[in-house]
Amino acid sequence: MENNKKELNNSFYIENYGCQMNVSDSEIVISILFKNGFFLSKNLKEANIILFNSCSIRKKAELTLNNRLEELQYLKRKNKILFGIIGCLSKQFRDILLKKKKIDFFVNPNSYKEIPNFIKNAIIGKPYIYSNNQKNETYSDINPFYLKKITTFLSITRGCNNMCTFCVVPFTRGREISSNPYYIIEECKRLYKNGYKEITLLGQNVDSYKWNNMDFSDLLNFLAPEIPFMRIRFSTSNPHDMSDKILEVISKHSNICKHIHLPVQSGSNKILKLMNRKYTREKYISLIKKIRKIIPECSISHDIMTGFCNEEEKDHQDTIDLMNEIQYNYGYMFSYSSRPGTYAYRKLKDNVPHYVKKKRLKEIIDLQKKHSLFRMKEYVGKIQEVLIEGESKKNNQYWYGRNTQNLVIVFPKESYKIGQFTYVKITETTSATLIGKIYKDVKK
Ligand code: 5AD
Ligand code: SF4
Repeated sequence: MENNKKELNNSFYIENYGCQMNVSDSEIVISILFKNGFFLSKNLKEANIILFNSCSIRKKAELTLNNRLEELQYLKRKNKILFGIIGCLSKQFRDILLKKKKIDFFVNPNSYKEIPNFIKNAIIGKPYIYSNNQKNETYSDINPFYLKKITTFLSITRGCNNMCTFCVVPFTRGREISSNPYYIIEECKRLYKNGYKEITLLGQNVDSYKWNNMDFSDLLNFLAPEIPFMRIRFSTSNPHDMSDKILEVISKHSNICKHIHLPVQSGSNKILKLMNRKYTREKYISLIKKIRKIIPECSISHDIMTGFCNEEEKDHQDTIDLMNEIQYNYGYMFSYSSRPGTYAYRKLKDNVPHYVKKKRLKEIIDLQKKHSLFRMKEYVGKIQEVLIEGESKKNNQYWYGRNTQNLVIVFPKESYKIGQFTYVKITETTSATLIGKIYKDVKK
């Protein structure tokens, strides 16, 4: 009886908003809470503590969380439940939430080890504590509690020093810090032994990874032979820091996936300068050419933002021209929203009307769809190595997996299992999904 009571009082639930980094952070938080006697509840309504892992990168992400908090207030009124916000949170959004007094505690991404104390304080009625701990953490001493099987993520750098003028990350996550390479390699080996088949190394800017004299290319070069049958992916790359050495290493190791996510943000030099992106359109295009020369089979994806401050129609056309020149495999596209605390918020005018941002966004999304279809068609008739990750969402008789280029492939299940590698012959395609049938086994 006593035991049951304790379990109930210490149960928590985490809701994730935002990027892969947040999911990876939640796995660290779960591990910290487990060590401190807390229990993960599968059901939000049964938990006593609800953690919201928030994202402030765009205004829309904050609005989504705000609506969710309103929606769940009834739980708070009914039971004695604690609401805690973790993750990226702009100061302005935190102040709004503080005023509404609906949150019991806030924990910044460098203070997760203190979460048990935040909870204990909130229980005895000391709410709204916010740690100003600015010392960046790598959490290398914590073994994350991985929520996924087969494929997972591991942060190798945290924070960002780039100061792109639109971006809130340097303010919410602090300065960049890299994890010890021995920890990264040991953790990947441990995952490998536990049956994982793919690891994605995460960072706001993985290419600037630095540990003493070791850079990102050295890390990849050491890691790849240690886990020879495990796929290695990484995200995100910054065009400014992508070196020839990194490209050579990707090309050299068969288990390093042939896909680079290379956010360009804009095709206009004027806008890139205003964004403080530290490369020009010409440099970016020559980098793409280099990638295609060194790793011919490499897929390339992007992030592009429309409607940044002072973006005129001709700047937008520059972006369209750049997309036409590169013809990316896929991309993530957003319209700009001004983020409190950033340089752009303080010094530049968010002067592109909402409807123009949306119109330009639609144009680039439509164009990308065309390019994606064109690129996908290049795979029809070819045989691809696929890691089976799960059931296709649209048809439970089909498996879902990805090739080395990170393109989604679906095919009839036959007698294969999740976690197996197999060769699939591509027979048809849409702009988002390759469709095929199993060709033969891969021996791994
Ligand atoms: N408004 C819109 N999109 C943004 N991004 C970052 N900051 C903003 C912002 N203020 C986009 C960029 C980045 C991706 C993760 O989110 O394209 O690469
Ligand atoms: Fe933000 Fe730029 Fe750092 Fe990416 S590189 S997290 S966009 S500041």
